Amino acid sequence: MPAATGGDPASPRTGVLVVPHGVPPECPRPLRLGVLASGQGSNFEALVQCSRHGALRAEVVGLVVNTPHCKALARAERLGVAATVMDHHHYSSRKALDHALVEHFRDLQVDVLVMAGWMRIVSPVLCQAYDQRLVNIHPSLLPAFRGLNAMERALAAGVCITGCTAHLVVPEVDAGPILVQAAVPAYPDDTLATLAPRIHAQEHRILPVAVAMAGQRLFERP
Ligand code: GAR
Repeated sequence: MPAATGGDPASPRTGVLVVPHGVPPECPRPLRLGVLASGQGSNFEALVQCSRHGALRAEVVGLVVNTPHCKALARAERLGVAATVMDHHHYSSRKALDHALVEHFRDLQVDVLVMAGWMRIVSPVLCQAYDQRLVNIHPSLLPAFRGLNAMERALAAGVCITGCTAHLVVPEVDAGPILVQAAVPAYPDDTLATLAPRIHAQEHRILPVAVAMAGQRLFERP
């Protein structure tokens, strides 16, 4: 993968600077992936498609959503991926939900767990159970614009470049070690409706690379 790529020169607004840390590593065996989602599920689908088309040596073995009628669930059904609803309202605390998630994904023998639009703050319970193998995707160039509404806040700040980050998860929100980032131009007349698809397109590229990197580290561990 190149260190930097431009988009279609005839259409500069689709152009991006991609800054991966290198070629996505190949894991010794297919990774078993668990995915957490709360909304649209486009990153979940990107992981499934990359796995099925050979761009990522992995299989998505389960999706958990916390919002009962989200679009990610419909995608899972269409794609034939087992999906489970764990509505956070039915758990007494963040830790209680995270304990249930750990049990669920342990049963599925998940190697790497991916927060693909999981709009819940996770507790140390999940971080410790999936230490170094819990990956999050965030729609900004971290450490800028941590937290909610990152794209809206980047636009309000008038940035010229924003992007997305895939990183390992630690208990502090949007603060873990960065695995891969992609830079995306922001234009003065951009709105959320024009910027968001540009960022999503790059998320779908970097998340599989980040997952492969996390998986590789798993096999490198003593
Ligand atoms: C993505 O843009 C992701 O970066 C963001 O939610 C969206 C989910 O899209 N995550 C966060 O903001 C987490 N802080 P998707 O449901 O289509 O994958």
